[in-house]
Parts: sequence; structure tokens; C-alpha cells
Amino acid sequence: MKRIAVFTSGGDAPGMNACIRAVVRGAVYHGVEVFGIRKGYNGMIAGDMFQMSSHSVSNIVQRGGTILKSARSKEFMTPEGRKKAYEALKEHGIEGLIAIGGNGTFTGAMIFQKEYGIPTVGAPGTIDNDLYGTDYTIGFDTAVNTALDAIDRIRDTASSHDRIFFIEVMGRDSGYIAIQSGIAGGAELVMVPEVLTPISEVIETLQQGWKRSKSSSIVVVAEGDEEGNAAQVADKIKRQVEGDVDIRVTTLGHTQRGGTPSAQDRILASRLGLGALEGLLAGQKNVMAGIINNELVYTPFEDTIRLPKPINEDLLRMVKILSI
Ligand code: F6P
Repeated sequence: MKRIAVFTSGGDAPGMNACIRAVVRGAVYHGVEVFGIRKGYNGMIAGDMFQMSSHSVSNIVQRGGTILKSARSKEFMTPEGRKKAYEALKEHGIEGLIAIGGNGTFTGAMIFQKEYGIPTVGAPGTIDNDLYGTDYTIGFDTAVNTALDAIDRIRDTASSHDRIFFIEVMGRDSGYIAIQSGIAGGAELVMVPEVLTPISEVIETLQQGWKRSKSSSIVVVAEGDEEGNAAQVADKIKRQVEGDVDIRVTTLGHTQRGGTPSAQDRILASRLGLGALEGLLAGQKNVMAGIINNELVYTPFEDTIRLPKPINEDLLRMVKILSI
């Protein structure tokens, strides 16, 4: 393989730049030419790509976001879009791809590989940590710490005013950010999409706290929770609880996606970037590089997409015990 390309796609995640850096420097080390594709699959379709050197990735290991920019491409979901992408890659002599992203990114890569046979290796970049085939994804640790910082701040004001706060964290289908930030932030309850916590249980937990003279409470809600987002959950509680309860809602939203990547994310991103690159050069294709039990592993895209990554339900039990 003489020339490869790297791109970032889907929601950005802190550490993506460290991953790009590892891919580019790894390629330079192994004597392979490397191109950067801008704006994910949209850039691939438009032929928006440029040759990178070791210098192109100087001074980015500490930066959040992605220097290659990202997009969720609708056009790549169409056969016409993928044909254009293939033609652009052929024109630039690209023989292999490194895709940094999440589920949607790898679904696209898998279909593309089946249609056009360009070998692709993925690196898991998403704050959600919802990919089977790796213990952690790039950006998750930073997002948890960002959420935690906000929870700590909210705890101060919650306690000053004797209020209940519902704090919404990201996670459309996954409760990883909610669980980790909830445990570290000492939340009274964590609500996640994977396990239904009925409103009656939320009320009961809050009431038990009041009986023990708790004057403020924090409930962390993953955005994709079955009872609704934090505002909807808070509304239901207000309607069902008698008496005067002072409730506030904070949605952390995209603050969790930005910011300086943590040391852990930079290290993970570096290992996965180099791992993906060296896998591709060694003949791997249609797989995602991941780290499981501190070992580099490659998992077929099909499995990373199809297989669920279950949360540890015992951690939810722990939240309840420790908030007594
Ligand atoms: O996939 C990462 C994620 O941050 C989800 O947790 C969230 O639901 C989604 O992206 C938001 O996407 P967008 O930036 O397109 O609104």
C-alpha cells in the first residue's frame, strides 16, 4: 500500500486530533503517503483531500474538535454518493482508508468496502462509548470529566437553594456518560436508556432522601432515557409530587463534545490511531481497532455495529446505595 487517507466523521470527540496525528506520523514512519479528507464522507464525495506530512499534525495533540472537520453525510447513504466518493479516491490514488468515528461512520465504511473493495480500518471516536469491540472510545473520558465539572458546580447551587436538579448528559442510546459522571458526582439517581427507571421509582428515591433530611438532590438523565429527556422527566415529577418542590433542569448538551482532551483520551487516541494504521498496512480490512483489557484488538465492523455494549447494571445499584 503506497497511499492511504484518513478522515473523521459523525459527532466530533476530544482526542480525534491525537488520533489523526498518530495515523499521519505512523504512515510517515512506515514510508506510506497519507492524505487527509475534509468533512468526512462529504469531503470524500467532493474530492476535498490534501496530502499531509508529519508537520501537518504539529501542535494538535492537545486540541479538541477535529482539524479535518466532520459531518454526518446524507449523500454517502446513496449509491450515487458512494460512486462519486470512489471516483474521487481513485483519482487521488488512495488505496486504503482510516475512518475515525462511531456507528454511522462504520456502517458507511462497511457498505462502501462491499461495493468498491477499498480496505478500511476504523478507530472508535465518539463521546458515547457505545461501540462493541473496545473498552473505551476516544472522547468518552473527556466528556465524562466535562459533565462531572458541571455536576460539581450545580451541586453547590443545588445545596444553597435546597433544590432538585435534573442534569441531562449526552447519550442517545447509551448511558455510559450518565453512569460514570453520576457516580463520580455523587448523584442520587442515574437514568439511562438501557434500564427503565419508572417515574414512581424516581419519586420514591427522592422521598426517601427527604425522609433522611436530604435538602438537595441531583438526578443525572441520559438524553435518550425511556421516560424522556431531563425536562420531560422533571415535568412528570412536578405533576406527580405533592407539595412545594423546587426543581431545576440543566442540559449540558454540546459542551460535552468540546474541550481539551484528557491525558487518557490522548493516549487512547494515539494507540488506536497507530493501531488502525498498522492494521491496515498489515492487511486488515473492514475492522475497528479497539483496546480491550489493555490489548489492541480488531473487531469486524459488522460486530461493532450489531452487537450491543451492555452497561454494568451493578453500577446503577451502587449509585442508589451510595446516595443513602
Ligand atoms: O454521537 C455522539 C452524540 O454526541 C450523541 O450523544 C448525541 O445524541 C449526538 O451526538 C448529537 O449529535 P449532533 O451534534 O448531530 O446534534
